[in-house]
Amino acid sequence: TGDPACYVPDAADVAAWWPRPTADDNKYSRGVVGVATGSDEYPGAAVLSVAGALAGPAGLVRYAGGAAPLVRTQHPTVIASDRVADAGRVQAWTCGSGMGTDERAYAELRTVLGAPVPACLDASALTLLVDARMADWLRDRDAPTVVTPHDGEFQRLAGGAPGDDRMAAAAHLAERIDCVVLLKGNRTIVATPDGRVYVNPTGTPALATGGTGDVLAGLLGSLLAAGLPAEQAAVGAAFTHGLAGRLAATTGPVTAADVATHLREAVSTLHH
Ligand code: APR
Ligand code: MG
Repeated sequence: TGDPACYVPDAADVAAWWPRPTADDNKYSRGVVGVATGSDEYPGAAVLSVAGALAGPAGLVRYAGGAAPLVRTQHPTVIASDRVADAGRVQAWTCGSGMGTDERAYAELRTVLGAPVPACLDASALTLLVDARMADWLRDRDAPTVVTPHDGEFQRLAGGAPGDDRMAAAAHLAERIDCVVLLKGNRTIVATPDGRVYVNPTGTPALATGGTGDVLAGLLGSLLAAGLPAEQAAVGAAFTHGLAGRLAATTGPVTAADVATHLREAVSTLHH
């Protein structure tokens, strides 16, 4: 077994995939993304993941979780409820950022995994997947799943650190759990269960600040809801997230909220 083939996407690739509305579209046909993130303890993760989702191509964002009052205040266009089961129909879920790992979080992830739509799983959701029943429910899914670990989350999920060969490590995990794996880092890697590996060229250390991962998870959910295949959604989200970090960094130190703000500009530069 040699090294997996490795692709480095460019702006033209991502522009070609990026869903754009047509004259016949309405907010539902563009896709509805459900965001199950945040908690009493980490309400900011909800605000940031919703900001990422709002910057994507989906037509509607629904929020479900413990930070609904704050999300309503910060993002008045979002329909917010307390529980995933009450959120209504969505075409994809993003789940886990700042959600915590208590009984409620466990039940919410269970509901997300049971929904027959694509899902992006981040942060707390990845910790909960170590539970054997949760791993079974992940395996039983028919719809595509993307997991977005940083190194620590990868280590828990894979049972070992990524090591020096990050591409091989991500590819191995993707095959084992039958999910698209987005392994975060300076050069974020996207690996598919059938052996394709991408290395994102747009990363910047300006992104090394709390909450940028939450923005990425929201954006990725929006791309899934808009109908992009999981592989392209993951690559496209990492690519534009990096561009947004670079744009935000031109005016000074970057916050995660700045990255979300610059996502729209990042997407518009794809088409040039
Ligand atoms: N170069 C390029 N990109 C980087 C670098 C770097 N040196 N460091 C981090 N990044 C990018 C990653 O690729 C990823 O897109 O920043 C993002 C960080 O995402 P996460 O690691 O998920 O961090 P985040 O979730 O935003 O941090 C918030 O995560 O681990 C928890 O408890 C921690 O509260 C914290 C929470
Ligand atoms: Mg994170």
